[in-house]
Amino acid sequence: MSKSVDELKDFIQARAGFAPVRVGLILGSGLGHLADAVDGVTIPYGDLPGFPHAGVSGHNPNLVIGDLEDTRVAVFGARAHYYESGRGDAMRPALEVLRALGADQLILTNAAGSMRGDITPGELMLIEDHINFSGLNPLIGEATDARFVPMKDAYDPAMRAALSAIASGLGIALTPGVYAWYSGPSFETPAEIRAIRILGADAVGMSTVPEVILARFLGLRVAAISAITNMAAGLSDESISHEHTKEMAPIGAKKLEKILRRYLQTAF
Ligand code: HPA
Repeated sequence: MSKSVDELKDFIQARAGFAPVRVGLILGSGLGHLADAVDGVTIPYGDLPGFPHAGVSGHNPNLVIGDLEDTRVAVFGARAHYYESGRGDAMRPALEVLRALGADQLILTNAAGSMRGDITPGELMLIEDHINFSGLNPLIGEATDARFVPMKDAYDPAMRAALSAIASGLGIALTPGVYAWYSGPSFETPAEIRAIRILGADAVGMSTVPEVILARFLGLRVAAISAITNMAAGLSDESISHEHTKEMAPIGAKKLEKILRRYLQTAF
């Protein structure tokens, strides 16, 4: 059954209250713990027609709406990836509902592989720009001129400045860098990693870029942080696996939580 954005908004507000949401947070692989910190209502995606049937282990397919540091947030414990369904726009209904609930900011997190010797596993990277290495776009098929979304400063400069200042105040390294979206679900080859490094990418992952494009289309201000879980293929002797991603992500998640809590305390 498909429901309109307004119907979903009404359904969510009936459960979670009418206070407008200020910030949406999408949590990446192994980064779901932050949802537990929210004082609010948990709604399984299964109760929300149009929300993704997110089936990736290490994700938690619930929408949690409530207060974190006295700021009303909507936390998406799981995202849909292109590789699950072959659809780049699988997160569109969820983001449309976020907008309808009043949010004007979206902060995305993900697990990623690093291509930079100075951004190592366990560290965080502030995404300042991206390379869409997949060639896919979630707005293909959108029939209005709104599809021609400018992508300069897609990662909001003021949000980035605030996050950087907070991280340095907390003594947490949050190096800015460029994220490349690789479709997955197989990991990259070493040759692909060498290629995207030459193209200017600093980290690689299988998510985030389609959501950023959709969020900018919907008028949301966006920031995104990668939790580096491994050096990208061919750059270290360590083997790359989803298990390893899930093991390493919580190291970054602890730092992320500190930064995001402070952001919510000070940016509103
Ligand atoms: N490549 C793609 N996605 C990832 C990686 C990687 O090396 N690590 C965590 N997510």
